[in-house]
Amino acid sequence: MTTEAREPAGTASHGLRRGLTNYGDPDFALYLRRSFARSMGYSTELLQRPVIGIADTYSGFNNCHRHFPELIEAVKRGVLAAGGLPLVFPTISLGEVFLNPTSLMFRNLMAMDTEEMIRAQPMDAVVLVGGCDKTVPAQLMGAISANRPAINLVAGPMLTSRWHGERLGACTDCRRFWAKFRAGEVSRDEIQEIEGNLATTAGTCAVMGTASTMASIAEALGMILPGSAAIPAVHADRLRAAEATGRAAMRLAAEQVTPDHIVTPASVENALRVLLAIGGSTNAVLHLTAIAGRAGIDLDLNHLNQLSDSTPVIVDLKPTGPHYMEDLFAAGGIGAVLRELKPLLHLDCRTVAGETLGERLARPGGPVDREVVRPLAEPLQGSGGLVALFGSLAPKGAIFKRSAADPRLFEREGRAVVFTSLEDLSARIDDPGLDVTPDDFLVLQNAGPLSPSGMPEAGYLPIPQKLARAGVKDMVRISDARMSGTAYGSIVLHVTPDAASGGPLAKVRNGDRIRLSVESRRIDLLVSPEELARRPAPTPPVPPRGYARLYRSEILQADRGCDFNFLRKAPLGTDR
Ligand code: FES
Repeated sequence: MTTEAREPAGTASHGLRRGLTNYGDPDFALYLRRSFARSMGYSTELLQRPVIGIADTYSGFNNCHRHFPELIEAVKRGVLAAGGLPLVFPTISLGEVFLNPTSLMFRNLMAMDTEEMIRAQPMDAVVLVGGCDKTVPAQLMGAISANRPAINLVAGPMLTSRWHGERLGACTDCRRFWAKFRAGEVSRDEIQEIEGNLATTAGTCAVMGTASTMASIAEALGMILPGSAAIPAVHADRLRAAEATGRAAMRLAAEQVTPDHIVTPASVENALRVLLAIGGSTNAVLHLTAIAGRAGIDLDLNHLNQLSDSTPVIVDLKPTGPHYMEDLFAAGGIGAVLRELKPLLHLDCRTVAGETLGERLARPGGPVDREVVRPLAEPLQGSGGLVALFGSLAPKGAIFKRSAADPRLFEREGRAVVFTSLEDLSARIDDPGLDVTPDDFLVLQNAGPLSPSGMPEAGYLPIPQKLARAGVKDMVRISDARMSGTAYGSIVLHVTPDAASGGPLAKVRNGDRIRLSVESRRIDLLVSPEELARRPAPTPPVPPRGYARLYRSEILQADRGCDFNFLRKAPLGTDR
């Protein structure tokens, strides 16, 4: 008797029968798989059901995911209630502050792990449970490449805490109080007290940092359930969203709705609009570029500028405003933002909820707190939070978060004070003898994607201590590094090509003049081409082995989202 004869009709390539281990005998492979699955105590009835994989990123090294056991139980409940078999599997987890040299270096590794485990294991759909900064983009990248029915579930933000009556939330307040400590305004005892009160619940950082931005983008793309981006991690609604996500995964499996139905040029543009309107993290430009690249969509920084011109900032969260993610949840969440942006959005995009964005937004929304989500006609800022700069210092672009910067520094020319590496920065930034004034431009080299440091969030260069103690709060800072989405300042990031690949940034010397014009979208090094040609730009050696070698060989520049070239849907040629 063949295995086909033993199975209900229509199940031949579904559930546990999918992707059998190859022994040259499919019947034996299925028999063996079932036998081992039964060793886990499942009934034969359950083993006949569609299988929903649940990618679990719980880790002792990831504080943001510490509630995942409870969240995943709720997903399983939803799958079981809808007639499926939930099977949880682990993947790499990336806890932002626990990784060296930086979490971005491992985003692509996590994306590969996620993609391969979705593809290799017998699941009809997958629920991807993530949250901390790099985990959601990694899961989206992996799921798009695997292209099996998929739905994301995000951790949700932390709740804020209190210190001496003041509201605290990771991590804008982490940086704010550290700057005060450096300036001598907060004592060592006080900073230790603050340290214990910045992050006090499960969940992702409490402000519009990278994790919250990526959750918002996932909702705008249509890859998480409507209304679920901003629900606090510890709120019962988060568990209800988890249960509903399990049910939705069953529907996606039945209808064979794969990520390529959802992540399209139109939905990517919707996500960009939301990114600009929420004053979101600069990191999200990298991540969305990489996510789009997995779907064969090229995200161009000139296009970002076009959208930025016509997308006002309407959300007043830290680091650009006073509010936190729990306030956005209470104010109506990303649904309220999408309703305001409706005239600018592509409404025919499908979502994992089984409806289009237009159908979602046709339903009446709830009350909106206008202190947090402004009407489109009365925005906080008339144009988007992010802008791309181009010029002789960054021929392939750089990113500037104008919504979180001091407009008095937007049109400037300054003298370069150069730090050649992160080590040089930490050795000299607080040197009382450092030749620096508040009008200078601080320049950091060799912190980009091809550097050994792997593009850390070091672009928020500290104000030199002697200036900080004199009351200087902001200066123009330029680097090929990234910046935390929770940070604030007049900071030019992602300078491309980076210094480690021999870009113009590598050739800046102390005393060079640099011109910044946010209005003209320019960042120029005012040094003649002849002089630049005389200056060396050494590139670091390729590491001898392991993931570091793969990373260094394949990593693309920031304008391509720092993905690995061979993981893009359409790999680039030698002119990257
Ligand atoms: Fe995980 Fe901020 S450290 S989101």
